[in-house]
Amino acid sequence: MNIAFVTSEVIPFSKTGGLADVSGALPLELSKKKHNVKIFTPKYYSIDASVRKLEYLHNINPLKIRILNKIYDVHVFKGFLPTSKVEVYFFDCPWFFHRNKFYTNDPDEDERFIILSKAVIETIQRLYWSADIIHCNDWQTGLLPLMIKSNYNWDRLFDKTATLFTIHNIAYQGKFPLDTINKTEVLGRLNLPLDKVEHENMFNFMKTGISFADVINTVSETYAKEILTPEYGEGMEAVLRYRKNDLYGILNGVDYKIWNPKIDKLIPFNYSKENLEGKENNKKHLLKTFNIGYKKNVPLLGIVSRLAIQKGFDLIQQIMPDLMNLDLYFVVLGTGEYEYEEMFNYYVRTFPNKVGVYIGYNNELAHLIEAGSDIFLMPSKYEPCGLNQIYSLKYGTVPVVRKTGGLADTVNDWNEFNGYGLDIGNGFSFVDYSSYALISSIKRSIGDYYNKPIWEKIQLNGMNRDYSWENSAKKYIEIYKKAQLKRK
Ligand code: ADP
Ligand code: GLC
Repeated sequence: MNIAFVTSEVIPFSKTGGLADVSGALPLELSKKKHNVKIFTPKYYSIDASVRKLEYLHNINPLKIRILNKIYDVHVFKGFLPTSKVEVYFFDCPWFFHRNKFYTNDPDEDERFIILSKAVIETIQRLYWSADIIHCNDWQTGLLPLMIKSNYNWDRLFDKTATLFTIHNIAYQGKFPLDTINKTEVLGRLNLPLDKVEHENMFNFMKTGISFADVINTVSETYAKEILTPEYGEGMEAVLRYRKNDLYGILNGVDYKIWNPKIDKLIPFNYSKENLEGKENNKKHLLKTFNIGYKKNVPLLGIVSRLAIQKGFDLIQQIMPDLMNLDLYFVVLGTGEYEYEEMFNYYVRTFPNKVGVYIGYNNELAHLIEAGSDIFLMPSKYEPCGLNQIYSLKYGTVPVVRKTGGLADTVNDWNEFNGYGLDIGNGFSFVDYSSYALISSIKRSIGDYYNKPIWEKIQLNGMNRDYSWENSAKKYIEIYKKAQLKRK
């Protein structure tokens, strides 16, 4: 199958969150299965063509893309995912993509991703490559399914090109004034059925993707059900219910070449389920990094996260005083909302011997926290999939999570599941979104931490899980085929 994978971030070139991990890993797995995958993504300022050895495509450059009355030159570069033959096409349009953030609140944010969508289609045309599927990810790519069926419908190259729209996070929708529709130049835009593209009087890129894609999916089975409800649907529940028969849930996988304590090059001490010894050394190293003295048998709680309300930081804020009364270490890596950054800065000032905080983005430290923590906290309000809890399982770092979305699909509470032959319970979870439920689960986990045989069992139950992409990639192929059938 020829698969065009369109994404606004992809490791190792650009990353703000899990979408980048997925975009770097799923195409690799698909190509292992002999599919021809090409990735399409913006060339942000931080992506250096010479460092990344990108080739300037003279034969197709530049694309000329019009928005309203202006024509923009878009230059296409080609690179590869590391150690693979998966091609990555980068769109260089400095006016739009050379900013200090990948996502902005600038007034032309709509234009930035209209450019991306058109650049994808026009590059495919110039390559004269017949894509069987265009795999779109999140709102930044939400216009593509419509454009294929409208603006570019004249081109027979796309007669059989189906579209899949993957929702990684329904809370970010790409909402713009209604006159943004004019900038898209979609045919018949004056007669466009507004119920398919508009929400609360705004032109909504996410809703457009949901309405026009042949098939839709999200990144866990539980989240696929949750988003049909007003509690989780963020206003999209009605259109999703309308498309329920075409909506699937496929859990993200993990690239165990990158996230595996046995071979992880970013941690000082490798270890495995056969020999966990190195883990304690990583813990010592992690504490040293934050100038915190090591004591044996004191649990270390870790967090690696965007500091956003989605991730449950309001609950963490409420329990911090209680947490500080317990005998534990607490290490946080994250960046995001100012209120939470300030909160953690306050606690590190007040409790320098038990709290370590790094505000910012740091991949190496993310690996060290996975390896050196005993317990990983992820009390998300909602979580489409969540990757860090899955990484934690592999690192023998026991997750304490709220039972929602992908967290519910990957973490089984030890107390709830240890009755079924002791092989299932791999963490601790709670349902109520409350600080009481969170602190109770943390206390349960710490209670078991002191009981070494039980703790090791919980760790091993997690380490034995296999969330490699193999299975999920197969499921993607199945829904690509479903999308193709719908297109015919
Ligand atoms: P989300 O995409 O909602 O942020 P995920 O759990 O799916 O959540 O993925 C988050 C990814 O981003 C993980 O790979 C995690 O290690 C990484 N990450 C998050 N915050 C940071 C940070 N401050 N520094 C380094 N890596 C981070
Ligand atoms: C989003 C979600 C996260 C998911 C990631 C990759 O950022 O918040 O839960 O793991 O996308 O699909």
